[in-house]
Amino acid sequence: MERVRTAVLISGRGSNLQSLIHARHEPDYPAEVVLVISNKADAGGLVIAEQAGIPAKVIPHKQFASREEFDAAVDAALREADVSLVCEAGFMRIHSEWFVKRWEGRILNIHPSLLPAFSGIHVHEQALAAGVKISGCTVHFLTAELDSGPIIAQAAVPVLPNDTAETLAARVLEQEHKLYPEALRLVASRKVTLENGRAVFPLIRNRDP
Ligand code: GRF
Repeated sequence: MERVRTAVLISGRGSNLQSLIHARHEPDYPAEVVLVISNKADAGGLVIAEQAGIPAKVIPHKQFASREEFDAAVDAALREADVSLVCEAGFMRIHSEWFVKRWEGRILNIHPSLLPAFSGIHVHEQALAAGVKISGCTVHFLTAELDSGPIIAQAAVPVLPNDTAETLAARVLEQEHKLYPEALRLVASRKVTLENGRAVFPLIRNRDP
């Protein structure tokens, strides 16, 4: 079986990268991480890539005069590696519109809340401040607007009375590690596609109007 060549974009620790790499051990898993790109030279995820024998590239955004030029370098690296899908996993840069358009329907992101609630940063602090009793994580198609693309999959966790941002983050992260490989599986096997700005699941019969 030919697996869909997938790149992962990171800026830090790389625990989601690890779970995406690990999925290759599942029988019939339809995707394979073949390239890791980090905008930070000290990202922990680069060590994970190295240990897994996956080529990794550091593209420091600070070396580029503009967002467009940085995105052009990322785009060139993705094309050079003949990648079909891209997963952002803790990648802390916003892309230019042309880049998002070019990868439309083929680029995914994971966010540690039940979107559309609590986009942006300090997500768990936002959830605790709002007093929600359930939080979770979301994998969505990336669009030009931050954390607001069509949703592919979500997982929920309880928010407990004594939670801190750290304890809640850890509970959510455990779910992220299960959810992201499953969401990538759906996209790589075309069980979900992006059509007219919506995540469409072609195997699920729509109700008759
Ligand atoms: C995760 O919580 C992810 O949802 C968010 O950033 C964090 C990255 O963690 N976008 P890691 O680098 O994958 O460990």
